[in-house]
Amino acid sequence: MSEKREFLWGGALAANQCEGAYLEDGRLPSSCDLLPDAAHGRWDVMYHPCKILETDYGFYPSHEAIDFYHSYKEDLKLLAESGIKALRLSISWTRIYPNGEEETPNEKGLQFYEDLFKECLKYGMEPVVTLCHFDVPVNLIKKYGSWTNRIMIDLYAKYARTVLERYKDLVKYWLTFNEINMITHIPYLGGGLLVDKDDKNFNSIVYNAAHNQLLASAKAVEIAKEISSDLKMGCMMAAGSFYPYSCNPNDVMEAVTCNNKNYIFIDVQMNGEYSGFAKNHFKKLGVEIKMEEGDIELLKNNTCDYLGFSYYSSRLISTDPEHLKNVADGNAITTLRNPYLQITKWGRQIDPVGLRVTMNDLYSRYHKPLFIVENGLGVEDKMDEKGEIHDDYRIEYIDQHITQLKKAILEDGVECIGYLVWGIIDIISAGGGEIDKRYGLVYVDKHNDGSGDLKRYVKDSFHWYKNKIQEEKIYE
Ligand code: BG6
Repeated sequence: MSEKREFLWGGALAANQCEGAYLEDGRLPSSCDLLPDAAHGRWDVMYHPCKILETDYGFYPSHEAIDFYHSYKEDLKLLAESGIKALRLSISWTRIYPNGEEETPNEKGLQFYEDLFKECLKYGMEPVVTLCHFDVPVNLIKKYGSWTNRIMIDLYAKYARTVLERYKDLVKYWLTFNEINMITHIPYLGGGLLVDKDDKNFNSIVYNAAHNQLLASAKAVEIAKEISSDLKMGCMMAAGSFYPYSCNPNDVMEAVTCNNKNYIFIDVQMNGEYSGFAKNHFKKLGVEIKMEEGDIELLKNNTCDYLGFSYYSSRLISTDPEHLKNVADGNAITTLRNPYLQITKWGRQIDPVGLRVTMNDLYSRYHKPLFIVENGLGVEDKMDEKGEIHDDYRIEYIDQHITQLKKAILEDGVECIGYLVWGIIDIISAGGGEIDKRYGLVYVDKHNDGSGDLKRYVKDSFHWYKNKIQEEKIYE
């Protein structure tokens, strides 16, 4: 990738958090459609999903979400006014293969994404597409236990081939799995796994399921290369480097270990093999990865072209039991409270410099282009009587992160394809299922209790972002 191309300023969304229309035009439910909202115990269910298939929890935000399925034309027209150059979207697997294993794909689903991607291009927005943003067809969970079963590799490969072939001329940037490391933290969200946190075989189940995802990811890369050398295949992780709490060497070493753990899957997708750390880690946990003939070659020969990542904050670790008591929200990955950082109402710490640290860590580890495919601030916004939303806190957050990403690129020499604001339009939160935890530059009139008319309003941050990305010249 040449340094002389345009930096992709943009935004990001995910099908299960924005589309709604969950049973329309032949679509069938996916794993995310079975997750209730926060008031009905979304986190309890995520950690103990064993009864999820037979329980009615009441309210499911993704069934309607923000109805992007029907409103995407107006939404894209509005987003285009901000001048963004890229929009990350995901394809809902069950719109294409509703039960995951039909002979032929659902044409209505295929047509929807074709229209959507064409509409993006009409406004000069490059679609950046995630093949699997957490959602797994429910039928595959019931019948095969989702990613615990190797049959998933071929089913995913078939789905990937269908969409890669269909959209090869519309979409250049692809991501195989969203936040692949999430599966070890929230296995139901990360892989549709019905394993409880306290299951004695937890590690073995989860790491073997992740192995199957890695093989599926490699197959998708292999298929893409066969279809066209123009396609850029990326992997994606929930990033955020671990800092040591102190300069005590034990703390420093603990941070190294936590980072190594967090990179286990991305090491495979970028380097083509499990690291020495991973192999020893599996041994310590008593995990045996069920390797079959051809696995090693498949992984080796199909590494990714770039590394996509989400960044919300750095993380902190210590070996001191006293410090270990004071935790904060690390986007599902445990972190300690860093006394130097501010914290949001949802417990998430704010660390713009940590973005620069993380970019340096990732780039020096893999030497391939990075792509910040998620970053943003989830808070409650208030609309005033004039219908305006003055979100100066979000402007400050994004501005500070952009300052640091520029330093990483321009001072530290990190290669980066673009920067995408997460949830550029308010969407359903993946963790809590709330909509009142808002990331958007566009406000959606919808609330946690289901009220609201879904009307869109631009926030102050929308205007600010428009000016900012017009002024910023990276790689020019
Ligand atoms: C990432 C996910 O983990 O973080 C998104 O890829 C998610 O799907 C985002 O929405 C923010 O997390 P949350 O829980 O605040 O929605």
